[in-house]
Amino acid sequence: MNLLNKVLKMPHKVPVRGSVVLITGAGSGIGRLMALEAARRGAKAVLIWDLNEEAAQMVASEVAELGASARGYGVDVTKSDQVEASAAAVLAQFGRVDILINNAGIVTGKDFLDLTDEDITRTFEVNTIAHYRVTRQFLPQMIEHDRGSVVTVASAAGLIGVARQTDYSASKFASVGFAESLRSELRHRGSRVHTLVFCPYYISTGLFEGVKTRFPFLLPILEPEAAALSVIDAIEKGTQMKVMPGFVRLAQIMRPMPVPIIDAVSDFFGINSTMDDFTGRKK
Ligand SMILES: NC(=O)c1ccc[n+]([C@@H]2O[C@H](COP(=O)([O-])OP(=O)(O)OC[C@H]3O[C@@H](n4cnc5c(N)ncnc54)[C@H](O)[C@@H]3O)[C@@H](O)[C@H]2O)c1
Repeated sequence: MNLLNKVLKMPHKVPVRGSVVLITGAGSGIGRLMALEAARRGAKAVLIWDLNEEAAQMVASEVAELGASARGYGVDVTKSDQVEASAAAVLAQFGRVDILINNAGIVTGKDFLDLTDEDITRTFEVNTIAHYRVTRQFLPQMIEHDRGSVVTVASAAGLIGVARQTDYSASKFASVGFAESLRSELRHRGSRVHTLVFCPYYISTGLFEGVKTRFPFLLPILEPEAAALSVIDAIEKGTQMKVMPGFVRLAQIMRPMPVPIIDAVSDFFGINSTMDDFTGRKK
């Protein structure tokens, strides 16, 4: 197996045990649950970044109760100065980040014609541009030690366009492109740093409150715990792309088909109706 990994130039696996793990947007939802799971699996330190500093610190306390070193930071990932200052503080205190999970995300759920410039810019800033901004802080050290993991939390909406998601879906397609190009570039340069792109269907965290699914046995609204566990498992197994549930693969398989067929299949599975009753996270 080791020989096969070498021949295929597979990235080095990064066990959570003993690792310094940093998760953006970990003040709630699957970010929080990934932080707790990393602590349960013996992470050396778990660093929680969130726009909401109080939430970040509360999650850090929960993580600390599980025995890992933990710290919460109030960081807006759309602000370069905040990202740079917090990254410098992290590196000064913990020396390195072994596992970086770019998880912070937002959704407007608006029809295209209702979107303001500000909505569109903010969505891309959080869901896409922040990944560049944050990753460049920690990747140089990973490359230097030829060890580490960069996780892109994208979405099934990064594999297929969905009604009322012209901003969100496009920002997630872009984050999938970011992850794929980063993986290719690392490989091309002979680096064994691991990358993972995660593309889940809807998760019941509240971010997509009100969404519905037509065939729950094929496309269930995911439990946040299961989604979080799946990301941590994928990191430890060295998986490079994880879609969830597996049925989401259909979006990839359909790509080369003629558009009328893609649209008919998408309609049949009710994909474009999923957002009809969307209300989103209550402030
Ligand atoms: N919930 C779903 O149905 C679903 C489906 C597919 C993908 N995803 C993705 O999973 C990720 C996590 O989503 P979630 O469902 O846990 O949502 P969530 O709202 O519970 O968590 C997102 C977190 O990101 C933080 N955040 C938002 N803007 C930020 C900023 N500028 N800087 C720092 N932090 C910021 C929020 O404060 C929040 O704590 C997101 O990237 C989301 O797009 C979610």
